[in-house]
Amino acid sequence: MSKAHFGLIGLGVMGENLVLNAESNGFSSVVYNRTYAKTEEFLSGRGAGKNIQGATDLQDFVSKLERPRRILMMVKAGGPVDAVIQQISPFLEEGDLLIDGGNSEYHDTERRVAELESKSFGFIGMGVSGGAKGALEGPSMMPGGTKASYDAIESLVRKMAAQVEDGPCVTYIGPGGSGHFVKTVHNGIEYGIEQILAEGYDLMKRVGGMNGTQMADVFAHWNSTEELSSYLVEITEVCLRTKDPDDGADLVEKIQDKAGQKGTGLWTVVSALQMGASVPTIYASLNGRVMSSMKEQRIKAEPILKGPAIKSFDMGTPADGMAPLMDAMVLACMASYAQGMELLRIASAEHNYNLNMPSIAQIWKGGCIIRARLLKRIQDAFNADPQLANLLIDPWFAEQVNRRLPGLAKVVAGAAEAGIPVPCLSSTLDYINSYRTARLPQNLVQAMRDCFGSHTYERVDKDGIFHTEWLN
Ligand code: 6PG
Repeated sequence: MSKAHFGLIGLGVMGENLVLNAESNGFSSVVYNRTYAKTEEFLSGRGAGKNIQGATDLQDFVSKLERPRRILMMVKAGGPVDAVIQQISPFLEEGDLLIDGGNSEYHDTERRVAELESKSFGFIGMGVSGGAKGALEGPSMMPGGTKASYDAIESLVRKMAAQVEDGPCVTYIGPGGSGHFVKTVHNGIEYGIEQILAEGYDLMKRVGGMNGTQMADVFAHWNSTEELSSYLVEITEVCLRTKDPDDGADLVEKIQDKAGQKGTGLWTVVSALQMGASVPTIYASLNGRVMSSMKEQRIKAEPILKGPAIKSFDMGTPADGMAPLMDAMVLACMASYAQGMELLRIASAEHNYNLNMPSIAQIWKGGCIIRARLLKRIQDAFNADPQLANLLIDPWFAEQVNRRLPGLAKVVAGAAEAGIPVPCLSSTLDYINSYRTARLPQNLVQAMRDCFGSHTYERVDKDGIFHTEWLN
């Protein structure tokens, strides 16, 4: 039997779908799973009749691959990735390439790239987005590592990726852990948008008294607009329209209000704090999940801490597409992208990733969870100015901000008076109001710091470093 073009380790749903994707694009494949029963099950099921063979152990797996070997690992992030690397390394030869397609922490990827490249193997840390369907039909892929390693997988990943009007949704991201870092930030933006849409739902339900179908109709309308058309808005409509087969009621109302998380949102926020990037909308979405998990405490607190009674305010009507609420949704989503892109720009400088911002926007236009029509505008903005400090000051985005800010403010104020939490919307309002304010009150913070701790301050009217004996 001739040697296979591509190897896959880890037959979870993502692994299965990615190998079927590779095979359907003409790459004969070999698969390995820790338990061989799973491999057999796959080969006699979804993998039957395809150009895919199984391997009983890693030595067998490696021997069935053409050189240089291209091996994609789809195993759980953390220890399992290191374990597979350790187990397979004795069988690899110079130039062979391992690709980690999981959601690994980017520092781990930095370490693995350095270790494996020093042994003359290639290592690519590749973010893969799009869920199970994307993996099968074409995901967005964010590979990082050495350029030489990328070149060795380029023909494979360009075929496997989602295709949009200006090419496949994959590009060489940069060195080291940059691919996984970009995927992490993608997920931070994903967390932000999910929470923003949940806040819109909460307002329509609790203030507007709307049912699932009525809200789904609003999301369907939003999905037809340039500003909000996106995969996440599309699936929100589906979620809200779906009924519980048991009783025909809105299924979403039967779901426990505790959101899980696997780490990437947290890593985005931690990286941002460490690098001095401002990501309040993304942070608010992470904190929203943390608060949601405190279910038992919230149940106890509800009768103790009295808020205002829910009262209605002008969020628009379904006939006008809930205009002020749409303003709030649009600006908060734009802020999530702006904050994520800003973090990428800062990280690129700090780690010498040399990230190409328009290319990142381009590969997020298809396949991935945050795909949206807006990404074309983001791509255009960074093409016009690759050093753009903040997306929101690009002329097209600035016009959106200037037009929609009153709507966002109205919704945040109304929600505050109705006692309904809108952490992403209110953080976005503060973010925009802070960013557009040339003089903030941190002069007083500086005065206090100098007063109690002689931390010194700068002045606006003369150069130098100053200290005052405030308490004399
Ligand atoms: C994607 C997703 C995916 C991620 C899940 C889970 O791009 O396909 O980002 O990779 O793992 O969305 O994330 P949480 O469980 O942390 O919400």
